[in-house]
Amino acid sequence: MYQNPKKFTESERSKQDKRLSELRDKSKEGGGEKRKQNQHDKGKLTARERIELLIDESSFVEIDAFVVHQNEKFNMSENKPLGDGVITGYGTIAGRPVFVYSQDFTIFGGSLGRAQATKICKVMDLAVKTGCPVIGLLDSGGARIQEGVDSLAGYGDIFFRNTQASGVIPQISIILGPCAGGAVYSPSLTDFILMNRTNSFMFVTGPEVVKAVTGEEVSFYDLGGSDVHSTLTGICHLVGDTEEETIDLSKKLLSYLPANNLDDPPIELNESEENNQLELADLIPKEENEPYDMKRVIEIIADTDSFFELQDEWSKNIVVGFARMNGITVGIIANQPLYLGGAIDYHAADKASRLIRFCDSFNIPILTFVDVPGFMPGLKQEHEGIIRHGAKLLYAYSEATVPKISVIIRKAYGGAYIVMSSKHLGTDINLAWSTAEIAVMGAEGAARILHRKKLKEAEDPEKVLADFTQQFKDEFANPYQAAEKGYVDKVIFPEETRREIAVALHLLQNKRDHLPRRKHGISPV
Ligand code: HXC
Repeated sequence: MYQNPKKFTESERSKQDKRLSELRDKSKEGGGEKRKQNQHDKGKLTARERIELLIDESSFVEIDAFVVHQNEKFNMSENKPLGDGVITGYGTIAGRPVFVYSQDFTIFGGSLGRAQATKICKVMDLAVKTGCPVIGLLDSGGARIQEGVDSLAGYGDIFFRNTQASGVIPQISIILGPCAGGAVYSPSLTDFILMNRTNSFMFVTGPEVVKAVTGEEVSFYDLGGSDVHSTLTGICHLVGDTEEETIDLSKKLLSYLPANNLDDPPIELNESEENNQLELADLIPKEENEPYDMKRVIEIIADTDSFFELQDEWSKNIVVGFARMNGITVGIIANQPLYLGGAIDYHAADKASRLIRFCDSFNIPILTFVDVPGFMPGLKQEHEGIIRHGAKLLYAYSEATVPKISVIIRKAYGGAYIVMSSKHLGTDINLAWSTAEIAVMGAEGAARILHRKKLKEAEDPEKVLADFTQQFKDEFANPYQAAEKGYVDKVIFPEETRREIAVALHLLQNKRDHLPRRKHGISPV
């Protein structure tokens, strides 16, 4: 017969409660008040303060708070701080679930040993299983020196998971302190890297090693600060002036993204200005070589205030980012005539390819605005591999099966016409403004090549060149030859662009397309 089980006595229960409460309090101590103060003195927040800024109020659920390292060497058994230098868990951002880990610099400099790595791997595994984004807040001295190969193994486990999760869930890395040595390869495998302007550093070998090997003397900042990575290497997508701003940027970024590759991005409707579309025609200068700001074109066409640019300080000749059209997230790729005339150089090709591949993995339509005089000529470009980098862009567009829409604004010359989301690469809807010029090259260049002999012999070569140029312009500097052949689906007035794109997006929302059966293609990386 069932008997009521024996209950804990009051004193037993209070002992249990006390133990749990003490452990909980202890796990929140981090490396102690002094080290927390050091962190603040450097202008940095603690790991917990960062999570509070990132995650919706009261939504954070910490896991593995009592995990400790198992290392016995170097007297480490006497120092086993709870949590082992990383806070992990889940919560919501704008009500949407995310997984997060935040390295705690106050515990062994946030360095990564076996236990810390296992904690990070656990949240990554949970994020993949549940189809939620994972966000890392990084602030670490790298591999925990006392743990030797165990810490290297831990990094390896993380890199493996970063790769497995790629294209399945969005992965965001926010660098808020040092990120040195092989540790840099985890963020580099994620989709987006954000840095704080003053306190973030990423380098494979630090200033001391650099000096020993090459004799170069360089500061942390000049070697791998936010300026380096947002203007030179391009690995940093967004920079915040403060930690608060950097974390806010990550939340804004997330608002454009789906939770996983089977999900659709959230729809965010916004009252949009429709009456300013007439401004578009006035933006384009009469002279074909005069620049204008492509960002303004994007801002007018997209939902009001929805354009969110990425990597804005790197390879400025191409603009990439997200925007919304009637609330729907789109990926934007656009030549920028303000820099290098909008020509595609090897960095621009990389920058655009990366966002195209991200969008394709995450069901985000790709919207391309074209005004491109060609690939960037020059010894440096050829020697740095513009052939290989340009091929990546061709590959990325050709491989993408999400809805693809392009608008040729002005120039679309030569190979760059093909590469910038042309019909030939499987673009679904190709629009062109009446100002579009689709040709093998610019009118004057073409006239010079075709009529070299006549120009040499002419009495007034300037006039003859002008005449030939005009002739060539009349013939080719328009969108109609391409429209006659169906390479452009529709020639439109600038003010019709927003509506045409919105209608095309609606049409393409149920697009189905597939690639040939194969393990994977080989992008020319
Ligand atoms: C163990 C570490 C540590 C590490 C820092 N600490 N880095 N403990 N392993 N890698 C500890 C320090 O001993 C110190 O402990 C505390 O963290 C704070 O460090 P400080 O040096 O006082 O801080 P700061 O002056 O701000 O300098 C931060 C730093 C510096 C620039 C990160 O600590 C540093 O250079 N660390 C080593 C970086 C490094 O070379 N890591 C290995 C990279 S190779 P106390 O007890 O005094 O508070 C690597 C390989 C990965 O990571 C390979 C993956 C494939």
